[in-house]
Amino acid sequence: MTSDQQTLMKFSDIAMYMQPSAIRRLLKVTETPDLISFGGGLPNPESFPIKEIKEIFNELIETNGKKMLQYGATEGLTSLNLAISKMLKERENIVISKDELIQTTGSQEALYMIGKILANPNDYVFSEAPTYTGTISAFKANFIKMIGINMDNDGIDTNLLEKEIRNKKNAKLIYVIPNFQNPTGITMSLDRRKHLLEIASEYSIPIVEDDPYGALRYSGKKVPSIKSMDKEGLVIYLGTFSKILAPGFRLGYVAANKEVIEKLNLAKQAVDLASSTISQYIAEAYLSKGYLDRQLPKIIELYRHKRDLMLESMDKYFPKGVEWTRPEGGMFLWVTKKGANTDALFPKALEKKVAYVVGSAFYPDGDNHESMRLNFTYSGDNEIVEGIKRLAEVIS
Ligand SMILES: Cc1ncc(COP(=O)(O)O)c(C=O)c1O
Repeated sequence: MTSDQQTLMKFSDIAMYMQPSAIRRLLKVTETPDLISFGGGLPNPESFPIKEIKEIFNELIETNGKKMLQYGATEGLTSLNLAISKMLKERENIVISKDELIQTTGSQEALYMIGKILANPNDYVFSEAPTYTGTISAFKANFIKMIGINMDNDGIDTNLLEKEIRNKKNAKLIYVIPNFQNPTGITMSLDRRKHLLEIASEYSIPIVEDDPYGALRYSGKKVPSIKSMDKEGLVIYLGTFSKILAPGFRLGYVAANKEVIEKLNLAKQAVDLASSTISQYIAEAYLSKGYLDRQLPKIIELYRHKRDLMLESMDKYFPKGVEWTRPEGGMFLWVTKKGANTDALFPKALEKKVAYVVGSAFYPDGDNHESMRLNFTYSGDNEIVEGIKRLAEVIS
């Protein structure tokens, strides 16, 4: 199609408003040969349990092929919902009934639908600043306004958040990633989590607790999930199999009060009817055979090593004046140099064949240029050391 033909289309306001994500654009660049990319948020393919999935698939297609290839219920396969409930109880001390869970096509779909059912165009959602780019896209696609609240090493500044909420009439949601936050790697302290719950309760604003990385802890002590402390049903908890099994499954879930789940069910009927039944059957068998419990420690060991290697290399090669976070888990760390412009540095980094994600991509207003996000889970060990050396030269 030529550009002349494209102008004939009269796109909707939303289509004209949507922006490509910086990360999706970056994935194209990372196809350059010899480029070391700390950009994408990709799990390491070594963490994928290919042998086990092959075994389960072969078994299931024989015994259950007719059901596995059929459409499924919108809320998801009952046996998988039960297995997820059990996992949430054991791992997070989250107790839910069977009406308080729905499976989604990755948590990304959940984010999009939560925006649809809980906010109108021009309503406000509060998030950490910086925050996950996919959430910015999902809310923007619903014409929702996002207000980023600064963070420190304990997470979102809840005093500032409260002040902002007080100033806004149509504040509808608080969105946070409490564990090993994307992009900073910071974990929210217990006090902040409790304060967040108090704010949610006082102003009757639900909290979206997005927790894709909680199971990937490499050091330090677990902090209770916000949902496990929620007595009023104000927390909407999002989980996903993307980082503990494989993102190709496109399988996530939402644990929330019954009313929210019912609305999500209606929204999902309009979006994709149901999530992949093939994925759900395989994931259910993967959990019930105990394979996740066996695999998770291996993933943790692999990523702990990569995190430590990246941190050691940064200690060794990065120049003075550069600061970075030391995450206790997850996949990312956050590098800041006062007065730097990481957008302007990016082409120079590409010349040296190393890539990162510019910090500005993680701010709802794009207005912060001193930082960059590095992923430590995807690259090989030699690449991590070499990539950090190259980046050190670029930053110097
Ligand atoms: C904070 C956060 N939320 C949600 C997602 C979406 O994950 P998925 O749709 O693969 O479950 C990601 C993916 O990187 C993420 O980092």
